[in-house]
Parts: sequence; C-alpha cells; structure tokens
Amino acid sequence: MQETLLHAIGNTPLVRLPHTSKKLYAKLEYLNPGGSVKDRSALFLIMQAERRGQLKPGSIIIDASSGNQGIATAMIGAIKGYHVIICVSEKISAEKLATLRAYGAEVRIFAATDYLDDPHSYHAQAVALHQRTPNSYMPDQYFNPENALAHYHLLGPEIWQQTQGTITHFFAAAGTGGTISGVGRYLKERNANIKVIAVDAATSYRATNGNPQPYAIEGMGIDFNSPVLDTEYIDEILLAHDADALPLLAQLAQQQGLLVGPSSAAVAWAAQSYAAEHMHADDVGVLIFGDSGRAYLSKSFYTTNTPEARSKEAQNSLTLV
Ligand SMILES: Cc1ncc(COP(=O)(O)O)c(C=O)c1O
Repeated sequence: MQETLLHAIGNTPLVRLPHTSKKLYAKLEYLNPGGSVKDRSALFLIMQAERRGQLKPGSIIIDASSGNQGIATAMIGAIKGYHVIICVSEKISAEKLATLRAYGAEVRIFAATDYLDDPHSYHAQAVALHQRTPNSYMPDQYFNPENALAHYHLLGPEIWQQTQGTITHFFAAAGTGGTISGVGRYLKERNANIKVIAVDAATSYRATNGNPQPYAIEGMGIDFNSPVLDTEYIDEILLAHDADALPLLAQLAQQQGLLVGPSSAAVAWAAQSYAAEHMHADDVGVLIFGDSGRAYLSKSFYTTNTPEARSKEAQNSLTLV
C-alpha cells in the first residue's frame, strides 16, 4: 500500500529481453505513474525547491518540456495543488499535449526552433514567463544540475540493488543528459569497471558539432550545450539514426509485447549492436526504456510495416528540439 501516488514513483520492473543470447535487461520506466522516467526527476526537482522554500502553497510551477518532464510535473502539481504552466514546441505529439491538459496543466505552444538556446525557443519563453510571473518557480530540467542528481539518488541505487551489483553495462538515451550522468556517476562509484553508454541522435546539435538536422526520435538527442550532461561518467556515446530505431518499434511491440517510445527503440538498437561485439555471455546490461508507445500512436510507427512507409512516416514527424 502506498500513502500517495508520489510514493508509487520508482521501483519499476527490470525485465530480460528475449531473442538474444546476451543478458540485456530493460528497466520499464514507462510503468511509472506519469508514464516515463521523468517522474523521478520532476519529483526530485519539486521536492528540492520545497525544501529550500522556493515552492510554497499557492506557488506556480513553470517549465519547458518536450513532453515527458512536463507531464510528470503536471501530475505532481495536481497531487500537490500547484498550478502548472508548461511551455512546449509545436512539434509535441498530440497525445502528450492532450495528456498535459488532462492533468490540468496550462500549456503554451511556441514555434519550433533549431536550437534550445534560440531566444524564441520554448525554453527561452518559459524563462521569460517565469521572470515576469510573481510567486513562480522554474525547475528547469535543461540547466538545473539537480536533474542528474535525481537519478543519482533514485534510479542508480535501484538498478544496483535489482541487479545485486552484477551490472556490467548501462545504456540510456540522452536528451538533457540527466539520466545517463546521474546513474552513470552512481554506478561508477560502486564499481569503476561498469561501462556507461549514452545514446544520442545521429544528427543532434552535439553529434553534428552544432549543425543539427531534423530527426523523428522524440525525447532523445543532445540539442544544446547541456550543463547537466557529465561526460566524466560516460564511456561512449553511440549515435542512432531514425532508420536504426524506428523499424524496431513494431518488432518490440509485436514480437515481445514491449510497446515503447522511439527513444527506447534507439537504446535497444544501440545495446544490441554494442552487445554483439563487446559483451561476454556473463555480462549484465541494463537498458532504460523511458516511455510508452501509447504517447506516439498517432504517428503510426507501430502499424506501418514496409520500410518505405516507415521512412515516409518519419519524414512527416521530424523534430529538432
Ligand atoms: C522518453 C525519453 N527518453 C529519454 C529521455 C532523455 O532523458 P534525459 O533528459 O535524462 O537525458 C527523455 C527526455 O525527455 C525522454 O522523454
């Protein structure tokens, strides 16, 4: 029994992936109450602000999000009684937009920009709104180092305990870099030999040295100079193209019952390619499956079966930030 829904965040299952001789275990973060890994960071950022007295009854929470952090913040705001305003880009999926509104959040939609640092980006708009709104707090997942700290304190120890310290490889998609940096730091402190492997979009801002090209995988992709990303704890950054990840979505759902979002497919692709070459039979890899495919059903990645149809679908849903 849990006292509140907030206590139900975390303790997600770790499930072995079938159809591979390597020991790869998926951490099903989409089973968090808000549907993604971001429940953890949103809760941590809000609790830290409450502890410092920056959030009090009657405060307004304002943040920028490509979707999941905003959804988690909206859910937690609903439980704790804060009014929540989330600034998003027009590229957000219809499902995520509807979910934000269902939790009672006020949503402000802004034109998509190539860079998060653009003065017109949804992040810049959220900062400006926060500055002119009295009694507001901005958790700011993109620039607040507490984002990585959340995963250092919550997700890292959970993975260590669930694998009873046998984990040898950790794979996670990077957007802000909070998940990979926080968990990576925790695991390296327990055992410096654990390999920490991030997955970035092949045409992200970081991967292209500042010349990004649109890509369809949502949530993943390092599209700014992230102060949250701590490369000290990351051994490798693997690059995934849409064409690597998206075809896996239907396979994971239809052959394994794993209805996951595009960033999870990118992590599955990267981990399987890496494991085939570098992992031994006794090694134990943990992969983060960050959110559910239910947030992307309108993009029909899960029903289009020919490569041509999937590639056309990807073209229709390109996102930069
Ligand atoms: C589904 C999903 N996967 C991965 C990530 C990347 O996580 P992080 O921002 O901690 O790097 C995000 C971020 O929004 C996400 O929504």
